[in-house]
Amino acid sequence: MNTKVNFCGIEFKNPVLTASGTFGFGLEYDEYYDISELGGISVKGLTLKPREGNPTPRVAETYGGMLNSVGLQNPGVEVFKSYYLPKLKAEKTCRVIANIAGSSVEDYAEMAKSLAGTDVDLLEVNISCPNVKSGGMAFGTDAANVEAITRAVKAEADKPVVMKLSPNVTDITEMARAAEAGGADGISLINTLMGMKIDVNTRRPVLANVKGGYSGPGVMPVAVRMVYECSKAVGIPIIGMGGIMTGDDAVEFMLAGASLVMVGQFCRSAGRRQGKERHNGLYAPPRDRRRERPYRGR
Ligand SMILES: Cc1cc2nc3c(=O)[nH]c(=O)nc-3n(C[C@H](O)[C@H](O)[C@H](O)COP(=O)(O)O)c2cc1C
Repeated sequence: MNTKVNFCGIEFKNPVLTASGTFGFGLEYDEYYDISELGGISVKGLTLKPREGNPTPRVAETYGGMLNSVGLQNPGVEVFKSYYLPKLKAEKTCRVIANIAGSSVEDYAEMAKSLAGTDVDLLEVNISCPNVKSGGMAFGTDAANVEAITRAVKAEADKPVVMKLSPNVTDITEMARAAEAGGADGISLINTLMGMKIDVNTRRPVLANVKGGYSGPGVMPVAVRMVYECSKAVGIPIIGMGGIMTGDDAVEFMLAGASLVMVGQFCRSAGRRQGKERHNGLYAPPRDRRRERPYRGR
């Protein structure tokens, strides 16, 4: 079966990718899964300088998913370029998407410049992170900012640019149109929905950061609706994500208008359980590994 997808002029061997922040730099999962089987991976959000992220606790389980306030912990773009990217490109055949973030328009432009001339296949611009004080989601909830950042990144990038949209807006199509007007080659959505959880025993918020981003199967209907709306509003291609746990979920996003899909929560639960078969349909582990590591449940 031909599963190839041409997205923004780049050929993906199949339409299933991992979502940024849920799969590290891919190599960490090597023991459990051959990431070369994926269409691609979007690496953890990168910034100019390394970031330690927010104080813990910064993840919490919720009904239908989880909350996180990790806050873009990453080793910085230079470490990515000198270590992770060469290793990924030398050892793996999947596409590598650099997910980039910043605190100002200039930061985003600088990030794009820094990644120009590298082997990265595509840039995904995170203007929708709800867990950082400056920048992040503040950019992605204002159409003028979305357009300005898109333009600034496009001016420096030598790879296709995909703008990752925030669902924390009244009208997602306004942001999609702004990205298109700024010259984006594609859009990806959704990032996490703002949420909060309170421990009724301590009467305190569960996350040290108080609020966090909600993801997982609970957000899927919202994500599918937003992908559908954007597909009617813009002519550029879409990467859909938000709660995909099965092959049928992925197909649902494609029927809504996505060309590629990304899986986030699914990777986290799959990694935790080290048993891929239970997630029927999305992927099956290579046969030899299945023999090495039979799934024994929790
Ligand atoms: C722990 C965690 C960290 C994340 N970090 C990033 C990030 O660095 N950049 C980004 O664009 N999205 C980030 N996301 C959002 C995911 O890429 C994805 O948009 C979201 O989780 C919805 O997909 P899912 O429901 O399949 O997890 C993160 C999500 C989680 C759960």
